Amino acid sequence: MEIDTKTLIALLQAAMSADYTQVRRTANGLSKQLLDAKDVDGARAVQAVVRKKGVPLQASGYAETLPVDAGTRLPLLEESVAPTTPVILNEAAGHVVGQFIEDAQNHDQLEQAGVDAPIRLLIFGEPGTGKSLLASHIAARLGRPLYVVRLDAVISSRLGETAKNVRGIFDFIPVRNAVLFLDEMDAVAKLRDDRQELGELKRVVNAVIQGLDTLTNDVIVIGATNHPHLLDPAIFRRFPYKLELGLPSTGTRLEMWKAFLRLESPDGLADAETLAIVSDGLTGADIQNISLSARRRAVLDKAEINLPNLLVALLSSKRGSPSLPDTRKLTTDDKKQLALTLHDRAKLPVTEIARMVGVSRQMAHRYLKGEDGELDG
Ligand SMILES: Nc1ncnc2c1ncn2[C@@H]1O[C@H](COP(=O)(O)OP(=O)(O)OP(=O)(O)O)[C@@H](O)[C@H]1O
Ligand SMILES: [Mg+2]
Repeated sequence: MEIDTKTLIALLQAAMSADYTQVRRTANGLSKQLLDAKDVDGARAVQAVVRKKGVPLQASGYAETLPVDAGTRLPLLEESVAPTTPVILNEAAGHVVGQFIEDAQNHDQLEQAGVDAPIRLLIFGEPGTGKSLLASHIAARLGRPLYVVRLDAVISSRLGETAKNVRGIFDFIPVRNAVLFLDEMDAVAKLRDDRQELGELKRVVNAVIQGLDTLTNDVIVIGATNHPHLLDPAIFRRFPYKLELGLPSTGTRLEMWKAFLRLESPDGLADAETLAIVSDGLTGADIQNISLSARRRAVLDKAEINLPNLLVALLSSKRGSPSLPDTRKLTTDDKKQLALTLHDRAKLPVTEIARMVGVSRQMAHRYLKGEDGELDG
């Protein structure tokens, strides 16, 4: 392929002003042209050169920093820290993630065989199902930094700056060999409710589409949204990999309780199984919240985790608004309700019910028969 004079001059100009960002931007354009001309080796060679960290050009005063909004000077994206807690997924979701990572790791091979697709994953699901956490795990597994963008933070009050901000982000990502994470993409779609913002919304959406189109297929992008149907279909289509994170299954909740409460003993495992059944309908974030609260109480009381109170808290927890366990003395009503739940939903034998409610076997029997059991005191 012939290099056109315009590209060559842009490259020389950028080199003479020691502007690495501009050098890379031009080189990325060049590599895309090469790809379009089916010169895969050429494109790869160009990419390899610009991926190298440049010599620091202190004399020129040039420093490579995060792109910022021209008005507020606030960074448009931030590097997220590596995750410290595990992500626990339903089996089907784990499978999709595994495949995405495999494809990302073997992109070169797929490209050579002509069967590659842009490595872009759209994660959707209710709040608290682990979308953001999963994105950081994927980046960690790929050994790349994760740069998080909240598109609503990118929207500038200065006319025309928004599209420039979005471009700044898309120019920056290939340079760092990073994973770009467009988190909470629905925040932008919500602008639709505000008529005055409609023009700006169009500009953001178009800038994102254009930004995605300037990236080569090997640049990894992850998007997350609570409402995939609010996303612009043109953006939706630009993510060939899609993953819905549903509510955790019973088996997944079991793993969550085990991990978050650190349950390992045989009794602990039995407790986790019961907790998994009683926490039907809650998200990973709810379960983590409740677990941490129970552990905080245990630490401050220098005691074991208070299982009866934990279970009672679960009975009144709703998705997105978990009741945090306390250590107050349970009322007879609490205990009765708990005993009946463990009997009806968890199908536990009376001995187990008694242990979990913290009463005698006899008392558990009385609760189940609908007797008051005030004797329990
Ligand atoms: N599947 C999961 N595995 C492990 N932890 C989870 C999971 N889901 C949620 N959590 C816990 O809840 C916290 C919040 O989850 P996260 O922020 O990833 O949810 P989200 O889907 O991005 O929610 P939102 O839509 O509100 O942004 C996580 O940091 C983690 O501690
Ligand atoms: Mg999130």
